[in-house]
Parts: sequence; structure tokens; C-alpha cells
Amino acid sequence: MVTFLFGIFFFGLSLYLYLTWNFDYWKRRGVVGPRPRPYVGTFPKTALMDKNSNYISETSEIFRKYYRKHRFIGIFEYREPKLMILDPALTVDIYVKYFKHFADNTMSETVFAKQDPLFKPNPFIATGSEWKERRTDLAPAFTMLRVKGMYPVIEDSCQRLVSYINDLIESGQSIIASKNIACRVTANSLCSNMYGLDAKAFDDHSDFVENSLRMFEQVPTFRTILWTIFPVLNKLFPNRSVSKEFNEWFIGLYKMAVELRSKNNIQRDDYLNLLMDLQKKKNMSVTSSAANAFVFFLDGFETTSYILGSAINELAKNKNCQEKLRAEVKSSKSRGFDDLNQLPYLDAVVNGNLMGRGRKVKKTTRVSPFPFPIWKTCTENIELTDLDGRVVLIEKGTKIILPTTAMHQHPDYYHDPDKFNPERFTTGAGDPKTLKDAGVFNPFGNGPRICMGMRWAICNIKAVLCTLVDNFEFSVRVTEEKPSTITGMLFFSNNTTQLEFKRLQ
Ligand code: HEM
Repeated sequence: MVTFLFGIFFFGLSLYLYLTWNFDYWKRRGVVGPRPRPYVGTFPKTALMDKNSNYISETSEIFRKYYRKHRFIGIFEYREPKLMILDPALTVDIYVKYFKHFADNTMSETVFAKQDPLFKPNPFIATGSEWKERRTDLAPAFTMLRVKGMYPVIEDSCQRLVSYINDLIESGQSIIASKNIACRVTANSLCSNMYGLDAKAFDDHSDFVENSLRMFEQVPTFRTILWTIFPVLNKLFPNRSVSKEFNEWFIGLYKMAVELRSKNNIQRDDYLNLLMDLQKKKNMSVTSSAANAFVFFLDGFETTSYILGSAINELAKNKNCQEKLRAEVKSSKSRGFDDLNQLPYLDAVVNGNLMGRGRKVKKTTRVSPFPFPIWKTCTENIELTDLDGRVVLIEKGTKIILPTTAMHQHPDYYHDPDKFNPERFTTGAGDPKTLKDAGVFNPFGNGPRICMGMRWAICNIKAVLCTLVDNFEFSVRVTEEKPSTITGMLFFSNNTTQLEFKRLQ
């Protein structure tokens, strides 16, 4: 019995020491920050799984406490020290001027080629020269001209969306979930633009949509926590980000698309064509080439459909904005690709959603924020200077957090940031380029690693919103935006909002 109790005591003590031995990391470097506690670090609500909070809202709380007092602070995720950047100007420098010092995304450390053969080569994950090569290979697919070339497919998806909603209304089912619409229309455009294949996304059962929604491996929470606290487990028993079944299904789909194209000698100047050329030129394996195809899918599907779904919800909740957008769309002479970029209120609505908003639950909690925290890793030592002139050496390997949501939610930059207010982006001070240059509007990141698919995403979102307001009036029937959860990899909120659609005469 004594041995048993001694064992427990010894185990407890070792665990305590393991969890806390590094807690003076920032103190030793003269960097201030909230006091870490054993196990929870500086994120008690996230670590203890408070149902009314999440990592992003807790990051915003810390941000607000230290903002304007320091340019950066030291925080701890469980036991791991990270540097949180508070100064918008420093954020821009990290993205742009100091790029070579912060060139890698931290997620690259937890994705492994054996477990995730399609995900590992993704530009978002790739590092060093491999990243550069991937980005250079794929960049021609995402120019404005290419996106313009993809527009007829997006228009076709929009027309199918109209028929889909009309059919539902006719059959007496006018209550439709916004997530349903956003996922189907995005999947349809993506599949056609990517492969020249019909996703049949508006059918009752679409293989493409169903597989897309099951793309991410659901790792049990306790495993995620354990693996974060003991990073060595990542190396011994690496997690899979994308499920095995999805990998196999996706490679099969890619092979089918290539086969169809080669067999029928189809010539199209699209993404698949670019990938097939690359495969030949670089003598790539099918899996490596499918990994290139996967970029569009993985980085594009959930992000675009999430932002689109939340934009539809906001227009449904804010009837005056919906009407204003409708008036603008109806007054425009035609609906071509170039016309989409001549509608200032549409721009403002899209930016208003990219900014994200907090939803107050039980007085304080914010959910449904912008989905991305940006985690970067220091790739070359650098000295950063705090507001009081103190210089701190940030060593290679240090992880940093760019708290996008916290900046997007700060009242110094956005008056009443919780309010959906597209008008804030229509006046001089709300020019998105000015805000981006100031470091306080980064929905797509910035610098050499800026999102590759932003033009496609914006075009797709704009086209769908125009189509909806042009053809339907829609309002909220049931709102049930639950706090964000980690669905797969990203912090997307569970959008279960139901809308009622009426056909416009
Ligand atoms: C509204 C939708 C989207 C949002 C909000 C979004 C946002 C972002 C953000 C914040 C980053 C990180 C930038 C950085 O590290 O500095 C990123 C990277 C990336 N995005 Fe997007 N994205 C969206 C849609 C898309 C689409 C549709 C595609 C592809 C078709 C795409 C492809 C990529 C790629 C390849 C990267 C990695 C770039 C690199 O590290 O070099 N994204 N995106």
C-alpha cells in the first residue's frame, strides 16, 4: 500500500514538473504575459472545455488585456510557450518584411507524409524549397484571368442552385438550412472547376458532397490534448488529418478525371489540365499529382462554404442589408464576371463576413468568429523590440500566434465589431486595402504565403449571393449557432441556421 501511494505521489510529482518546468521560459527572456497554470497554461477555458468559450475567444480576451501595452506577449498552450503578436504593424512585418524569419506554418509539424500523402505536399503545409516549388507550380491556376475562365462553371452552379431551391419550394419544403445551400453550390463549382466533373451536388445523394463533409479524420478530444501535451507522441503515433477512406476515394476520383480527359482527348484550359501537364513535365506519381488537385479541395471547400453560409445567414437576419444588396444587383445591367467587381455594396457584404463576428452567448461568450488563427514558426533567429524599447531575441523554432479574430474584433478599428455592418467597409476609413496595410484586416493572410485561392473564393461567394438576392427573399426561421468546435482541423461553428425562402415575382 505504501509503495502504491508512493508510486502515485511520484507519478503526480513527475507530471507536475513535466507540465510546469518550462513556465519561466518567457520570464527568462523578459517577455510579459498571463501567468500560466499547470495543465491549462494560459488558456483555462479552452483546456477545461468550457462550453461557452473556445480557443479563439480566449485568445481575444488575452489580446484585449495586453493590447497597446506591449507589441507581443508570451503565452502557454498547455505547457508550450508561444509568442502572441499584439501590434498590427508587427503583424504586417511578420507576414511581409520578416518573411524569411517566419516562413513556415506551424501545422507543418503535425502532418506526416505516410499518414497524409495528399495533405503533406499542400502549400499550406509544405516548408522551405518544397513550399516554393509547390506555390510556383500552382500559382498560374489562380490568376484573375484563370478565375475569369472558370466563371461560366460558377454561373452554371448558381443556376442549378436556383432550380434546386425552386423545386424545394414547389414541393412545400421552403425551409432550407444555409449550410446545405452553401456546401452544395461550393462543391458543384469546385468539382467542375477542378476536374471538369459533375459533382451532382444538388442530387439527394451526392457522393462528392457527402465525402467532402467527411473529409477530416475526427480525432477524439482527449487524444488531441494528450498529443499536444506530449509532442513526442506525434512522432511515435502520428495522427492522420484526412481519413484513409477519403484519401482512397479522392485518388480514385482524380484517376477517373484524368482517364476521362485522356480517353476523350478533351482540351480545356483549366486546373486539371495544368495538373496533367505538371505530372508529365515533372514525371510525378499519381498520388503526388492528386495531392496537387487536393489543394483546391482541402483549402477551398470548407473555408468558402463556411464564409458563404455565414454571409447568407447575415443577409437573412438583416433584411435592410438584403434589400440594399438586391437593389444594387437588380440595377446592374448584366451579370458577367467583371460586373461582380463593380458592385460596391456586394464587396462590403463579403468583407463584412470575412471580418467575422462574435455572437454573445450568456453575456460574454463569443462564438462564430472568423475561423482561422494563424500559427507560424520562427525559421531564423530575430530580435523584436517591445514598446518600451526592450529588445527580445526570438529563437528559431519559437511558435507564434497571429490573432486574426482579435484584431478583426477590436473596437479601435471596427466600431461595434459584433454588429453585421457592411457599411463600415464603404467609407474611406473602411477601405479593405488600407485596413490590410495597417495589419487589422487579414482574412486571407498577407505576404508571400497569402491565400492562393482568394480570388476564386470571393468570386464564388459573390456570384451565389447575387443569385440568391436576385431570385429569392429569405429570412431566418431557426437560429442555432452553437459555439465553435474543432470540426476536423478548423474552428468552424456548427451552422445549423434554417432559412425560409420565398420566390420573388
Ligand atoms: C473564404 C475562403 C478562404 C479563406 C478565408 C482563406 C484563408 C486563408 C488563410 C488565412 C491562409 C493563410 C495565409 C498565411 O499563412 O499567411 C490561406 C492559405 C491558403 N489558401 Fe486559402 N482561404 C480561402 C479559400 C481558399 C481557396 C478556395 C483555395 C484554393 C482554391 C485556397 C488555397 C489556399 C492555399 C493553397 C493556401 C496556402 C498558401 C501558402 O502557404 O503558400 N484558399 N487561406
